[in-house]
Amino acid sequence: MELQITDVAFGGKGVARANGKAVFVPYVIDGEIVSANITRERKKFLEAELESIVTPSPHRVEPRCPYFGRCGGCVYQHIDYEHQLALKWRQVKETLRRIGGLKEPPMRPFIPSPVEYEYRNRITVHVRDGVIGFFWRESNKLLDIERCPIALNEVNRQLAELRASRPRDGHYTLRASASPRVFRQANDAVAAAMLDLVDRLLGSATGMLIDAYCGAGFFSKRLRGRFGKVIGIDWDQHAIASAREDANENELYIAADVEAELGARLRSIASASGEGNNAVIVDPPGTGLSKTILETLMEYQPTQLIYVSCNPATLARDLATLKQSFRIDSITPLDMFPQTAEIEAAADLHA
Ligand SMILES: C[S@@+](CC[C@H](N)C(=O)[O-])C[C@H]1O[C@@H](n2cnc3c(N)ncnc32)[C@H](O)[C@@H]1O
Repeated sequence: MELQITDVAFGGKGVARANGKAVFVPYVIDGEIVSANITRERKKFLEAELESIVTPSPHRVEPRCPYFGRCGGCVYQHIDYEHQLALKWRQVKETLRRIGGLKEPPMRPFIPSPVEYEYRNRITVHVRDGVIGFFWRESNKLLDIERCPIALNEVNRQLAELRASRPRDGHYTLRASASPRVFRQANDAVAAAMLDLVDRLLGSATGMLIDAYCGAGFFSKRLRGRFGKVIGIDWDQHAIASAREDANENELYIAADVEAELGARLRSIASASGEGNNAVIVDPPGTGLSKTILETLMEYQPTQLIYVSCNPATLARDLATLKQSFRIDSITPLDMFPQTAEIEAAADLHA
């Protein structure tokens, strides 16, 4: 059937309407008229596959990757970069409205990636029965991949080496630099922009900084100079060991569950003399913050809370709670992963 695409939802699928229901179609652009086949009928919506484009969008471009459309990694290579950002910006705003209950989310402009391809400093490939690559989209079947155009050349060189070595079945993380095996932001240029942003947002805060989910101290290392005390918490022992390596006397890194440790640390801030101007950064995994952690943050109310998120849906869910105790000053999306559906964002909250 012919469909008028009115929007592109978070995750990358185009949205249209047919038979009184929403229809989701991948690899289309808002404003396009397309011909699509309905592949699945659900209670509340339909799923379709693109057959042909009747009226293309002026934002349509040629995907650079031969695996695009099959590989589960990228969803936006057919859209020019500026429009990718416009769509993602709208997706964040809509999510904050719908799930976060924020009528007018204080959205800042997108921080773009200076490079649209060749940015990933690490990829994880899977090997099974001689097939080396990524998963097909919406499948657990493996797609054989020779080269990934969103990865740095060095990462692709390692992929070629791995392929030549006839590896055993398993998962292999290929990294552009021999960094320790701990979490590291995947796009160096956007990671640097994120540090600048968080540094700027923290303005004149100088008291104590708690860096929750600190990894190897990505934020703490940048900020340690201006805070009297920095406490990093992460349950990854290797990350904490790496953070401790060059720690100053004002830095403390604790290998623990944030859920168990955050309350005690916030209590010690609250009882310390000269409180005020204290800040907490949280950078949790995609699942967001637990109920206990939200309650702890609301009970002890640090002066400023920076919430760095890799999942707009859980960010919105958590802001819906946090807004009872904090004022939300701004939400800045960052494009850590061009061509993909992923969105990173930093929210700035004040007690
Ligand atoms: C998105 S990464 C952020 C790391 C760091 N902020 C950075 O930018 O490099 C999330 C981190 O949270 C840690 N983590 C996840 N759940 C945790 C928990 N319940 N308690 C402590 N650390 C946790 C992981 O080990 C990982 O290092």
